[in-house]
Amino acid sequence: MSLTSRKLHGLNGDCTVPGDKSISHRALMLGGLASGKTRITGLLEAEDVLNTLKAMQAVGAQAEKQGEEWHLVGTGNGVLLAPENDLDFGNSGTGCRLCMGLFGAYDFPTRFIGDASLSSRPMERILAPLKRMGVQVDEMQEGDRLPITLRGPWQTAPIEYRVPVPSAQVKSAVLLAGLNTPGITRVIEPHLTRDHTEKMLAGFGAEIGVETGKSGERRISLVGQGKLTGQDVIVPADPSSAAFPMVAALIVPESEITLKNILLNPARTGLITTLLEMGGNIEISNQRNSGGEEIGDLVVSSSELKGIEVPAERAASMIDEFPVLSVAAAFADGKTMMKGIGELRVKESDRLDAVARGLEINGVECRDGNDWLEVTGRPDGKGIGGGRVATQLDHRIAMSFLVMGMASEKPASVDDGSIINTSFPGFTELMNGLGAEIG
Ligand code: S3P
Repeated sequence: MSLTSRKLHGLNGDCTVPGDKSISHRALMLGGLASGKTRITGLLEAEDVLNTLKAMQAVGAQAEKQGEEWHLVGTGNGVLLAPENDLDFGNSGTGCRLCMGLFGAYDFPTRFIGDASLSSRPMERILAPLKRMGVQVDEMQEGDRLPITLRGPWQTAPIEYRVPVPSAQVKSAVLLAGLNTPGITRVIEPHLTRDHTEKMLAGFGAEIGVETGKSGERRISLVGQGKLTGQDVIVPADPSSAAFPMVAALIVPESEITLKNILLNPARTGLITTLLEMGGNIEISNQRNSGGEEIGDLVVSSSELKGIEVPAERAASMIDEFPVLSVAAAFADGKTMMKGIGELRVKESDRLDAVARGLEINGVECRDGNDWLEVTGRPDGKGIGGGRVATQLDHRIAMSFLVMGMASEKPASVDDGSIINTSFPGFTELMNGLGAEIG
């Protein structure tokens, strides 16, 4: 299903984007594992997350929707059941990789499969620490790709693991494997990546501690085989989804929108920091704590953006937001340089390449290297647009270029809009409700 987006004269109104994807996955995993009842409000009901729900049901969790809430009854830590069929994670790296840690530490075989995008993503980063814990890789495709079958030993061994790439998925997979491992599993990350796993594990009663060194290095220690108890979880709105209406309101003249209840965890707010530095009119109000996470409302209005250099140290706190930042940069005055973004090459697509090629076919000047991208903007949008972007099964590529079309002189199209449902069901309706013309 191809979609096209055309130039507008203003986006206006209030909106609430769907629940945070990272928190939704984790709430289902821990709720499905913990003893007793977990109630989840605001769960993201997108394909990625629903695949995690099915996986948790396949290993023994009970789940049902009651009104707006999801109710889960977990198996109890250490007592997951062997799944009878292959577990299909669709497009989701997070669902698949975290469950590899969680299920891999059990003495039964689990076969992990996914769509063409997920089946082309490297899994060695997860398998390496799991193998050190004693997990067998019974099946794997060339280049450490899915389908993969894992089988835990009678008992996994605790490890101390220094995460070699900035990845919350790797960190989380090791910690989740540590749940069914005797002794202390320790993960060291040189710099903060999203910390929802650590926070939620503590919330469910796990014995977990985090020490942060002077350089920002974090040592996370988890005592395995403890009891987890069901909790009430409130999922805030996803800042990575809010990024699309946010950038749209900045680049479309005569816009002012309010985005409600957005997660403002500092490990996730790099895009807001960057857009503020670029001169974006973004006001944060009603800042408060909800279920252990900072949240707030954002009022965003049309802005004259200027190009900046985004420091490499900030990359982890906005790793999913570079495609849409590149679109903002296309309408900024001057050049925007993004450094230290090599991890974009192993996302749902090679995002660095997908963004650069998408900008080029829409008439935006850019240069790219192995781990950097530089975009030269045109504040009036003149000459931009007219291209049809290959989304390559990547939801964020699809949404980013539809945002571009809202401010570019010529309309912008994407070849496959259906992939947006993996993370942001209702994207088109929400944007059109604010005044967009996507169709
Ligand atoms: C996620 C971690 C990030 C991010 C992904 C969600 C998570 O991946 O890109 O969308 O929920 O842990 P990496 O761990 O590969 O950086």
